[in-house]
Amino acid sequence: GAAELGPYRHYMQKEIFEQARALGDTLEGITNIMPELFGDKAYRVFKEIDNVLILACGTSYYAGMTAKYWIESIAKIPVNVEIASEYRYRDSVPNPKSLIVTISQSGETADTLAALKHARELGMPHSLTICNVSTSAMVRECELAYITRAGVEVGVASTKAFTTQLAALFLLALTLAQSKDRLSEVQEQDHIKDLRHLPVAITAVLALEPQIIAWADEFARKENALFLGRGLHYPIALEGALKLKEISYIHAEAYPAGELKHGPLALVTKEMPVVTVAPNDTLIEKLKSNMQEVRARGGELYVFADADSRITPSEGVHVIRLPEHYGMLSPILHTVPLQLLAYHTALARGTDVDKPRNLAKSVTVE
Ligand code: G6P
Repeated sequence: GAAELGPYRHYMQKEIFEQARALGDTLEGITNIMPELFGDKAYRVFKEIDNVLILACGTSYYAGMTAKYWIESIAKIPVNVEIASEYRYRDSVPNPKSLIVTISQSGETADTLAALKHARELGMPHSLTICNVSTSAMVRECELAYITRAGVEVGVASTKAFTTQLAALFLLALTLAQSKDRLSEVQEQDHIKDLRHLPVAITAVLALEPQIIAWADEFARKENALFLGRGLHYPIALEGALKLKEISYIHAEAYPAGELKHGPLALVTKEMPVVTVAPNDTLIEKLKSNMQEVRARGGELYVFADADSRITPSEGVHVIRLPEHYGMLSPILHTVPLQLLAYHTALARGTDVDKPRNLAKSVTVE
């Protein structure tokens, strides 16, 4: 009801603004990395496995894609990420040393549960879930679990569940690295310090809302949008495009920017807003030349840069700068402005933000 919403117009907006609290709660009390964070048997399981298979749907799948970059980079363990509804029906080659990781806000998504069961029947005994509901079927079915503390999420389009999943998955990457003796104590403490700073960093990003509203008024008049990211931020571009589709009904696609020349450049005209996730990471120079390719065809760039990315506004290049450069955790920060952009665009178009047409919060049938 209205009382619960407080100053917010929709649950989605409220949930976007709850992310500092949700991340703080999800990471509460974590001062050291230890396998027991994921359950009693985690020490033994993490020693045994030598690869990870992530299964999820929707927004949770994009969290999984981000985790692949983190786990391979920090823990040096190979990771595959599969859409649950595809994995459950295809012939695959099981590896008994895989750790099956399901990611699910609700813990009740039928395809993800079925994919887990399928993996187990193929002879992969070890499973872990990142889940927001401790009493869910998923938590009961998995050997190990990390419960995110996003709290109840009402908006159909997932927001705080996603960023808390990312925080939990980053912890998993650190824990797997430690289990394989690939994390020094100094590295561990540096990463924990960054994790614990997240709520403050997110609060600063939320303060960009007025600038994002100005962009949303432009977007509300468009029927198509392209989202670009590279590396760690490609899944974030995918999530940004999904958010816009889900609630504003604008057709949006995401591409890893290096693929532009293999197709989507053909779509670029001055009518095509191109959202670019552009923190100062190792691929920033590559991304800048991808942005030039868009500008040369008249595309309008809407760039989410950060404190360190040397990108300045110019004709057709709009820039919002996130206050900090956040290194490996940057995907968590860069998600927030994309949520706000989708939210305010939908608001300007007058759609039913919390209950978009044809979609359900949790898909418990196939
Ligand atoms: C539905 C929701 C999405 C969610 C997906 C997976 O499509 O609308 O927001 O990402 O299900 O849900 P889960 O609960 O498994 O994360």
